[in-house]
Amino acid sequence: MKILIVDDESDICELIGFIVQDIFPSDTDTLLAYSGNEAIKILKENDDIEICICDHNMADGMGPDVLKYLIEVKSKTKFVLCSTVIPSDKPNDYPAGFVYTNIQKPEIGIGIEHLFHLVEKSMLEKLKCMSDEFFPVKVHVLSLMEALPADIYIRMSDNKFIKCINQSEEFSSADKEKYTQKFVAELYMKKGEHSPSVNEIILDTVQKIMERRNLPLTEKLNIAHSQLVVLIKFTGITPELAESSKKNIQQSVALIMKNPLAADFWKEMNFLGEYPSTLYTLHSLLASIVVKKLHWSSEATMYKLSLSAFLQDISLDSIPLMEICDNQEFIEKQSRFTPAEVKKYLEHPQRAIEVLASFKEIPPDVDRLLLEQHEMPDGTGFPRKLNANQLGPLTCVFIITGIFARHILKDKSSFDVGAFAILLEGKGYSRGNFKESFEVIKSMRKI
Ligand SMILES: [Fe+2]
Repeated sequence: MKILIVDDESDICELIGFIVQDIFPSDTDTLLAYSGNEAIKILKENDDIEICICDHNMADGMGPDVLKYLIEVKSKTKFVLCSTVIPSDKPNDYPAGFVYTNIQKPEIGIGIEHLFHLVEKSMLEKLKCMSDEFFPVKVHVLSLMEALPADIYIRMSDNKFIKCINQSEEFSSADKEKYTQKFVAELYMKKGEHSPSVNEIILDTVQKIMERRNLPLTEKLNIAHSQLVVLIKFTGITPELAESSKKNIQQSVALIMKNPLAADFWKEMNFLGEYPSTLYTLHSLLASIVVKKLHWSSEATMYKLSLSAFLQDISLDSIPLMEICDNQEFIEKQSRFTPAEVKKYLEHPQRAIEVLASFKEIPPDVDRLLLEQHEMPDGTGFPRKLNANQLGPLTCVFIITGIFARHILKDKSSFDVGAFAILLEGKGYSRGNFKESFEVIKSMRKI
């Protein structure tokens, strides 16, 4: 996103730029202009500026001149007045309906935070609107369909989709290669063109992928997770998606329980695929090894752990945030994230519980596992600050295997269980109710 900041006082202009960089997502670009006329020149050269934060009183072209230009060219740039003047004081200069919002000087920080929430909300609404018409399908899922059950579209911009493959054609390996090389992870099916519904077609395909005999278990889990999560992020958690996710996790658990896994199975895994899906797969499988060794293994226990692994980071979009192992690491890295990202991170256990509420017949403990996912053995985690003696043994399995999975994904072939056990011990993950799961992990280095 590009944001233009216009103020004739250069230090204020730079200060606004600094606050915007701090609050908006890290891929936001800021451009600075020190007069209204300079701003108009920049706007003429850049038709992709989404927001213009503009002062009122400036020597060379005032705020109203900038807004007048935007209205004349029917620009999509949102005009935000940043001044001691408010738009309703000067209705002729700032006609109603043309000012997106205003930032009241000197409360610039509060104003920009408010602006960010407005933008975020409108982006979510736009996505929701769009999802009324199109559904995303992972390229990997398309490649596993025999004949395409619907026309396939590619997304060119926010709301522009072009048909790229016809219904009943095959999605060939050359097609898969072509889109993967272009970093296109999802294509789309259009709603309303088919019966059964597109959602049903996609969910049915995921089901068939799970039943395939010739696909490794890790790949099945990975593909199903990535498709279900992309749908949940796109349309929100609908009752239909909650039911399909639940069925899929139960199916995954049945497969996990049937397949004996070697304690160091991850050495055989190739870690292709998106991080959240690989993390879910690895976390579920490691948890199954620990509970099997502890003889707590029942499908009901594994379902709790897998459902929690599925939902733990569902509200996060940033992979660097998902990669964080525990609160100690989060505190060390906190300055790399914007205040909005920090807020999102601190709230994500609670957000996961809100998504969980859409699932029917939730087994006991899952809300606790989600809420306590980032507690620490010494009681310095969040949000409840429980320590190793206060956290339940199942929560400890969930936390420790989550850290285990993240370390394997970080170190890949250089991962060493012995060194990892020493690190865990140093951080206190061998104490209290962590002890039993810690001993299982430690024993893996002897194999
Ligand atoms: Fe998390």
